[in-house]
Amino acid sequence: MKHLHDSGETTTKTEYKCQKCRDTGYYEIEKDGYTFSHECECGKVQRDRLAGRLKFATIPKEFEGQTVDNFLTDCYSTPQSRELAKLAKQLASRYVEQFQEIRETGKGFYFHSGVKGSGKTRLAVSIANDIITRYMIGAKFATTIQILDQIKSTWGEKPKERGEGEPVSERRLIDDIISVPVLVIDDIGVERPKDWVNERFYNILNGRMIEKRITIFTSNYRISELQLDDRIVNRIEKMALPIEFPAESIRSAIARKENSDLLDRLLGV
Ligand SMILES: Nc1ncnc2c1ncn2[C@@H]1O[C@H](COP(=O)(O)OP(=O)(O)OP(=O)(O)O)[C@@H](O)[C@H]1O
Ligand SMILES: [Mg+2]
Ligand SMILES: [Zn+2]
Repeated sequence: MKHLHDSGETTTKTEYKCQKCRDTGYYEIEKDGYTFSHECECGKVQRDRLAGRLKFATIPKEFEGQTVDNFLTDCYSTPQSRELAKLAKQLASRYVEQFQEIRETGKGFYFHSGVKGSGKTRLAVSIANDIITRYMIGAKFATTIQILDQIKSTWGEKPKERGEGEPVSERRLIDDIISVPVLVIDDIGVERPKDWVNERFYNILNGRMIEKRITIFTSNYRISELQLDDRIVNRIEKMALPIEFPAESIRSAIARKENSDLLDRLLGV
């Protein structure tokens, strides 16, 4: 990389995707002695608008490139687990196929299993990935904890008192979460069911339900076991088809396989 002197710039010309606006989305034009700012034709502004303001809600690196197609079903150890995994995969695959029509029903999935590491997040994210690539529809991912932390971060320094009314930025954040076309809400049920948590989840899920936005939930609990308010649980029932996942950890299976490979290597087998 070449460093330019004086100007303080540390990038060379070639590092911008768009030379015209230097990836800012705007360039300046001079006319009659005035300087005007002009939206660049490269579409940066448009793309940012599409991506939305929910910068925290990106699909985790671990799941990049994972599709429904490459979700494994034969790595589960019991026949019963393999059957459940196959069914989940088949439903997910048909869901993606028929997404344009199903979208109008506003229905997503609720993947649950008491056992951790069974592939729930993997399949939920795969559906989101497939919808993005196939239909160019905006899909996002957030754990319930990320959503709640993000909400708390809008409260600022002042302790929030009840009845004071929501700060404007919190309302905007919640509106943004409501408007995501396809949202994976990961690990619902881990949060402590406090009043403010119930209130926020209610607003988010009620908004998404009314607007028929697609939500895919993953959880270690059945819908009926969730400790959230009934009005939230009712909405989840309406918004998602519950699918049981195998009671088996692929995460452990993968870890065991990795350890045995390492052992083989160290023993020189
Ligand atoms: N069927 C599968 N095919 C390929 N990889 C899988 C499959 N199931 C799980 N994995 C991998 O195993 C790991 C654990 O899966 P995942 O995170 O989806 O589990 P989970 O059911 O969401 O667990 P938790 O209840 O802890 O959230 C991930 O790295 C995932 O990519
Ligand atoms: Mg998970
Ligand atoms: Zn540009």
